[in-house]
Amino acid sequence: MSADRTGSWAGDALARIQAELPATPLRALAAASAGGVDVLVKDETALPTGSLKYRHLRALFAHAITTGHVGAGTHVVVATGGAVAVAGAYLAGLLGLPFTAVVPARTGPDVLDRIERHGGRWRRAELPPAAGQQEGAALADRLGGHFLDHFADADRAMAAGGPTLADEVFAETTPEWIVVGVGTGATSAAVGRYLRRHRLPTRLAVVDSESSAYFPAWVTGAPDYATGMPSRIPGIGRPRVEPGFQPDLIDLVIPVPDGASVAAMRWARDTAGLDACPATGANLWGARHLARRMRENGTNGSIVTINGDSGEAYRNTHLDAEWLRARGLDPTPFEAEAGDWG
Ligand SMILES: Cc1ncc(COP(=O)(O)O)c(C=O)c1O
Repeated sequence: MSADRTGSWAGDALARIQAELPATPLRALAAASAGGVDVLVKDETALPTGSLKYRHLRALFAHAITTGHVGAGTHVVVATGGAVAVAGAYLAGLLGLPFTAVVPARTGPDVLDRIERHGGRWRRAELPPAAGQQEGAALADRLGGHFLDHFADADRAMAAGGPTLADEVFAETTPEWIVVGVGTGATSAAVGRYLRRHRLPTRLAVVDSESSAYFPAWVTGAPDYATGMPSRIPGIGRPRVEPGFQPDLIDLVIPVPDGASVAAMRWARDTAGLDACPATGANLWGARHLARRMRENGTNGSIVTINGDSGEAYRNTHLDAEWLRARGLDPTPFEAEAGDWG
C-alpha cells in the first residue's frame, strides 16, 4: 500500500474511533447520600461495550494506529477473556480488522458469544494465565499481526491520547474524593495526572482486592512487590505491580476484603438500583469508608466513584450463592455494614 493510502486509512480509522466515545452519565446514588455527603457514580456501563475497559481498548487502538503498528488489514490479538476481549472485538470490527482473543480456559460462553457477534475470533490459551501475554505476542508474531498488551501499554496509550474519564468527571464537578479500582492502573493514573495538571483539590483513593500486590506495594514503597495470587474480583487487583500503577499520584489505597466487595455489589443491585459488578462493589466499600470519615470530620461535599461493568456477566459466579460458597467467599459478615451509609 502506498504511503498516501496508509495515511488516509489511519486518519479515517482515528476519526471513526474518536466518534465512538459518548460521555457516560454521572449519577447521584441517593441510597448512599446522607449527612451532607453525596455519592456520585460515573456509569461506565453506558459505553459501547458496556464496560470501562472500552476506554482502554479505544486508547490502545488509537495509539497503535498513530504509531504505525496497526494499519489496514493488520490482525489484532489480545490475551484475555473478559470485557477487554469484547471491547477489542468491537473496535476491530468497526475498523474492519481481523481480531483474535486468546482466552483463559474457563472463559464462559457469554463472552465468547459477544466476541463472535462483533466479528472476532477466539482461541483457548494453552499456557497458564501468567504466560497469557507471551502467548498472545507469539500468536501475533505468527500471524504477522499486532499484539495489544493492555497491562503493559494501556496507561501509556491513555496518557498519549485524547480525553479520559477524568475530563468528563471534572467538567461536571469537583468532589472531595474520587475512588477508583486498579487493574492495569491506567484509570487511576489518568485521574491522578488530571488532578495535578489542573491543580484540583480532589484527593484520589484507590481500592484494592484481598490478594493483590498494589496495597502492599504502596505501603512498603516496593515497586516490584508480588503476591503471585490471582484476584477474585475481576478487573481489579493483580498478582504483581503492573507498569501503569503510579503510586505517587495516589493519596490513599484502601484494601477491601473480597467478601465486602461482593456484599456491596449486592447492596447496590438490591437496594440502590445500581447494576454493579464486583469491582464496583469494592469502589462502593471504599467510598463508604471515606463518607464516614467526612461526616466524622464535619466535611460536606461529594465523593465520585465508578461503575465499571454491569452485574450481568456475574450471574453464575459472584451473584451465585453456591459458587461463592465453593470458593470460601462469604459476603455475610459485611452485609449490614455495606448498607450502612448513615
Ligand atoms: C469498577 C472498576 N473496574 C476496573 C477498574 C480498573 O481499571 P484500570 O485497569 O484502568 O486500572 C476500575 C478502575 O477504576 C474500576 O473502577
